[in-house]
Amino acid sequence: MCGIVGYIGNHNSKEILLKGLEKLEYRGYDSAGIAVKNESGVHIFKEKGRIADLRSIVDENVDGHIGIGHTRWATHGVPSKLNSHPHQSTSGRFILVHNGVIENYELLKRDYLTDVSFISETDTEVIVQLIEKFVGEGLEVLEAFRKTLSLLHGSYALALLDAKGDDTIYVAKNKSPLLVGLGQDFNVVASDAMAMLQVTDEYLELMDKEIVIVTKNEVAIQKLNGEAVQRNSFKAKLDASDIEKGTYPFYMLKEIDEQPLVIRKIIQTYQNEQGNLTIDKNILDAVNLADRIYIIAAGTSYNAGLVGKQLLESVAKIPVEVHIASEFGYNMPLLSAKPLFVFISQSGETADSRGVLVHVKELGYPTLTLTNVPGSTLSREADYTLLLHAGPEIAVASTKAYTAQIAVIAILAEVAAKRKGIEVNFDLIHELGIAANAMEVLCDSKEIIEIMAREFLTGTPNCFFIGRGVDYYVCLEGSLKLKEISYIQAEGFAGGELKHGTIALIEKGTPIVALATQKSVNLSIRGNVKEVVSRGANPCIISMKGLNMDEDSLVIPEVHELLTPLVSVVPLQLLAYYAAIQRGCDVDKPRNLAKSVTVE
Ligand code: M6R
Repeated sequence: MCGIVGYIGNHNSKEILLKGLEKLEYRGYDSAGIAVKNESGVHIFKEKGRIADLRSIVDENVDGHIGIGHTRWATHGVPSKLNSHPHQSTSGRFILVHNGVIENYELLKRDYLTDVSFISETDTEVIVQLIEKFVGEGLEVLEAFRKTLSLLHGSYALALLDAKGDDTIYVAKNKSPLLVGLGQDFNVVASDAMAMLQVTDEYLELMDKEIVIVTKNEVAIQKLNGEAVQRNSFKAKLDASDIEKGTYPFYMLKEIDEQPLVIRKIIQTYQNEQGNLTIDKNILDAVNLADRIYIIAAGTSYNAGLVGKQLLESVAKIPVEVHIASEFGYNMPLLSAKPLFVFISQSGETADSRGVLVHVKELGYPTLTLTNVPGSTLSREADYTLLLHAGPEIAVASTKAYTAQIAVIAILAEVAAKRKGIEVNFDLIHELGIAANAMEVLCDSKEIIEIMAREFLTGTPNCFFIGRGVDYYVCLEGSLKLKEISYIQAEGFAGGELKHGTIALIEKGTPIVALATQKSVNLSIRGNVKEVVSRGANPCIISMKGLNMDEDSLVIPEVHELLTPLVSVVPLQLLAYYAAIQRGCDVDKPRNLAKSVTVE
């Protein structure tokens, strides 16, 4: 979602800000803007659309040594130049970028700002107008900033410039991510380290309700009450090449191809010197003490959680419930006596999941986060973290994080089982290795899958995915991938459920993707395919070697039946990718979507 960058130092900031915003493009946005300050004042450029559109309107003769920038994903007010950030106070003195949602902005307008004419429809403008009001009433800028923050309810990451004042960027955060990057004679602000890796890899983490006063030579962190905070910086362990597309046309394709490598890296990382899989003892204790695990997640991570449930229940014999994060808060089930909450999140920033985390922590329950982003909010705030080691995932459509989540849960299930003395009758390292090889075979089958996409999905308004058992869970993920990047209306169903309603939608030529990787239900899913074919559907059956039949469109290599999702999802990811390409869609940046969903 919205992204923030800021620069203060000896160099001109315009290009640094624009490049930083380009690195934040993956988060999803619909407009962008920058403000640069120089001797003649603050110059603001904003545009609806892409950073390229913003670049085209930026005055090449204007630059400055201080600046802030923003990518906006509309929440309050349509995507437009007017609603895009930076926002300015009425006099033009204060300039602000904001990520998050101010829940009480209407109340604040009514209580404090009745005499102000608002230019935009955003909640953000209230913040900058409040700062101006309090400065007008005699407060110093920092005091006005502090007072404003104390009135805000909701989430925010903020960077503020004062056109009249000292060369300073005022920064604050609550619930929305923000980092300060450190350099020699310069400092930067960024929603994530990737944005400013171009100038520094040294960062300071910020906590909720902290204010940071950033000048070119100093970074001072304070609590809201003014108390100074000391914090060590950390090095962002990111390789610039990890965040480049290289020769790939889209990040999504690169990330699909990286999956076998990621699985091998996970095996390596979770192996000890004796070659056994290992997990932090405290995490194992928490898992084995629990009488039930509650997995909380959204989107693709939720779909991975469903597969994870199967793994944890069948290998570690622990009952598991999987819940959609946005529902859990309002619809909490009756909890068991000793629950463990497991949050699965690629970004570690999903606000819906964080809402649940905060709530269950208040209730005193233990929490574990599985995430790809060390130091992310969910990681910091949970009792324990397991990292996915998938490397940065840039495409909005999650691919390698999904398979990494499944692999890490498989390892957790295996190690927890062994610790409890439960016999595990397969060698997980060996089986994961086989799965990684099978994924590679499928990544090398792109030409076939591209043809399948053309054959089954050209011109179709919809597509159904069916499977039974764990194949059903993978169908949910396959359909999510297809709908989010190709805009084909796609749904995943349990094979046996079609006849209870959905079969009414089947017409001549309706594409049905069926997964058949589970021996115990192979014949039943094929029976379901027959039911839809006899009503005119166009079936695309993806089966596993050993279970395959003549009519199948693609046969995946044989892998352990608990690990088939790692492999069967690859052709579904590629089908979605090619369907989107064939429709001319912007694969990495699907409409209306954001990579990290930081609003509830
Ligand atoms: O970062 P998270 O895993 O918490 O994100 C959850 C969902 O927003 C995410 O998986 C989303 O569904 C993806 N765009 C799916 O490809």
